Formats: sequence, C-alpha cells, structure tokens
Amino acid sequence: MKETKILLPEKEIPKKWYNIMADMPNLPQPPLHPGTKQPVGPDDLSVIFPMSLIEQEMSQERWIDIPEEVLEIYSLWRPSPLYRAHRLEKLLNTPAKIYYKYEGVSPTGSHKPNTSIPQAYYNKKAGIKKIATETGAGQWGSSIALAGSLFGLDVTVYMVKVSYNQKPYRRIMMETWGARVHASPSQVTQVGKKALEADPDNPGSLGLGISEAVEDAATHDDTNYSLGSVLNHVCLHQTVIGLEAKKQLEIAGDYPDIVIGCCGGGSNLAGIAFPFIQDKINGKKVRVIAAEPSSCPTLTKGEFRYDFGDVAGLTPFLMMYTLGHDFMPPGIHAGGLRYHADSPLVCQLYHDGLIEARAYHQLTCFEAAMQFSRSESIIPAPETSHAIRAVIDEALLCKEEGKEKTILFNLSGHGYLDLQAYADYMGGKLHDYEYPEEKIKEALSKLPVF
Ligand SMILES: Cc1ncc(COP(=O)(O)O)c(C=O)c1O
Repeated sequence: MKETKILLPEKEIPKKWYNIMADMPNLPQPPLHPGTKQPVGPDDLSVIFPMSLIEQEMSQERWIDIPEEVLEIYSLWRPSPLYRAHRLEKLLNTPAKIYYKYEGVSPTGSHKPNTSIPQAYYNKKAGIKKIATETGAGQWGSSIALAGSLFGLDVTVYMVKVSYNQKPYRRIMMETWGARVHASPSQVTQVGKKALEADPDNPGSLGLGISEAVEDAATHDDTNYSLGSVLNHVCLHQTVIGLEAKKQLEIAGDYPDIVIGCCGGGSNLAGIAFPFIQDKINGKKVRVIAAEPSSCPTLTKGEFRYDFGDVAGLTPFLMMYTLGHDFMPPGIHAGGLRYHADSPLVCQLYHDGLIEARAYHQLTCFEAAMQFSRSESIIPAPETSHAIRAVIDEALLCKEEGKEKTILFNLSGHGYLDLQAYADYMGGKLHDYEYPEEKIKEALSKLPVF
C-alpha cells in the first residue's frame, strides 16, 4: 500500500527554533524610531513587548531553545502530519510528487498557535496581565485567546470589521477562550474613533487593527501588544513547521525542489521555508514561492522601502515591500492576507532572490481549493488556497514538461469556519478585484522619504 501520512513521534518535536538571521547573506535594515529615524533599541520596544521576545527579535544566534512549558503545549498537536497528496496528483495526472504539512490540526485550526503559545508564555513570565492584539479572519485572534486562557492572561482582540461580520464563529471561539473582541475600527481607541469619523463604513484592515491594539498596549502599563506575523520572533517560532517537514521528508526519502506557502505577513511562509532556505544558502537547489492575493500584492507590486507596520503610524519604520500603510485592501475572503506589507525577513530574502512571489485572484484560488477538497478531502482556509493555486500550477507545468519534481507546501489552516466563503463561491457571488493601482499609488505617495 502507498504511504499517505508521515508521522513523527512526540519526542521529535523540535527543541530549538531556527533563526535565519544567522545565515542570511544580507540582514534586513534595522527598524527605525518614527520620531528620530534612528535604529530602535530594546528600550523603545519594551513599552509593548517583554524583553525575552525583544532579544529574540534582535538575536543572530542560529538556534534558540524552546522552553519546556511551550514544548508541553506544542505536544497537544505537534508534530503535525506530513501528507503525500496522492489523490491530487492523480486528479492532475502529474508526474510531480506533492507533499503538504497540515497545520490545521492545531486547536484553533491554523499555524498561528506555534507563536501565540510562546508569546503568551514570555509575557506571563515578565509579569504582564493583559494582551492586546488585532486579527483578520480570526485565526490569530483565536490563537492568542487560546494561549491567554492557557497562561491566565486577559486578551483583547481588535478584529477587522469585514471579517468580524463575515466570520462570527471565530469571534465565538475567542470569547469561549475568554477574550474580549471589538470590531475594528472601534469606539474603544482614539485611532478607531478617528477612522470612524472619517468613514463610518470603514471596513477595517490589519494595519488599522494593529494601530488600535498598539494604542491599547502603549496606554496601559499592565498590557502588552502581541503580533501574529511580520516580526522576526514570530517567523522564528513558526520554523517548527519546516524543521519537522524536513525530518518527515527524510523518512519519505525525498527533498523538495519547490517549497510553497501563502503569504500574508510572511510568518507562514517563513515557517515552512526558512529551514530549506538555510540549505539553499548553503548550496542546495530548492525554489521557494510566496503566494499572495492580486488585490493586496505586496511582494509582486509593492516598493521596498521603510514604512509603518500600521495605519496610524504608531509602530517603528520597518524595511518592507509595502503598498503604503494606509492602503485599504478590498474585502476578500482571505482576510489573513490583507496586510499592506510583509515581514522584513521575507522581504530581504525576496530582494536577494532567495524567494520568488506570485499573485493570484480569489476566484482561481477557490477553484484550486475546490479541486483540493474534492481530491484530498480537507477543505482549506481561503488564505491557504493561494498556496494550493501555486502548487497546482507548478504540478501542471511538471506535466507539460514531463518533469518529476517534488513540491512541498504548508496547508496553513482548514476552512471549516470559512464555509460562507465557499457558499459564496459556489453561489457565484464572489468576484475578482482589479489590481487597485490608483489607491496603491496614492498610499505610496504619502510615505516619508529617507
Ligand atoms: C490559515 C492562514 N494561513 C495563512 C495566513 C497568513 O499568515 P502569515 O501572516 O503568517 O503570512 C493566515 C493569516 O491569518 C491564515 O489564517
């Protein structure tokens, strides 16, 4: 019988995270203080982050120990399974071998708890009582709500309004784990009030949610801010995915020619790909592809320059491919990919040619997700469908060229709480958004010049 699942025993959960900063040919430019435009130091960040996470943010150590308490919680769902997609391969009639790592087995259904758990752990250890954060589709918000309940932290989530209305079940998950959820923009913060005054119908965005959560954390001594993607320490925590996948592929006797991940803020792609990019830097032949939405095409259409991480300009300047921090992406169903920029680590690696990027419209992604669901059975999250589109395109190219390549991707989450998106797709109610060139031009024109 052909093997479908490659499983690792619990004792094989990685004991260290992999820090790509130890191996990158060029480190990202440092974050800059919005006032002085000088590199920020640990003290600047300590207003909203615990020192242990700030150290990880800046560390160039290759391997960083995962605390025992975090490993214990990881063992609830890690190691996650690696699947060989025999049925999708057959459907496509491709000579390519397709593998997927399935992060939907976590308690919240996505890769996000890989970082929410350590973030809550370090905040608790630093004596913090409350966490404020933003969420798009609710995958991150539910993950930090879960982590807060495990470590006894109070959690407030600013949830992008369009997703708050589209996805009530994730809000209920967050509340079940004890978190407080506000539709963002909200009346709770100054930033939110201002946004609503300017436009009462503002649908919200991740960048605006970040502004609300940062304001909340910066104005309350017992509250810290927690981010579900973008930052170096978040990418670091997600590397457990790629480290496990490497061991699992070794068991299968394979090594990927192509590694694919969807890219919102970049931590999912970082998680599956950074351990393989380490090999690439050391001479191995492997391609890495970031799949992003055409309606929010940060890597493929953004400019590589300093920008704020949020709409209101409360965060440091980060060196990123950006569409402009006040660019408001259209309300696509892949809410977790509606971010105006990307992780500085992913951006630098893209800039240096170690990562490729593709942008896809949502209809073609849903078409790929339907093919996947009807062959492999799991219904993927709309975010993940972008990676699946890229995988299917690559597998079809293998068929055309008669090449037997090995493709690995991260199935970053399931879509069982996103079924309205599938209903809308099947009901013909979804449409593609044109590339919002004028809006992006306008948002970019407002950026400071250094
Ligand atoms: C299922 C899923 N996959 C991928 C992403 C994108 O994640 P990242 O910001 O790490 O790129 C998200 C973000 O919310 C998500 O929910």
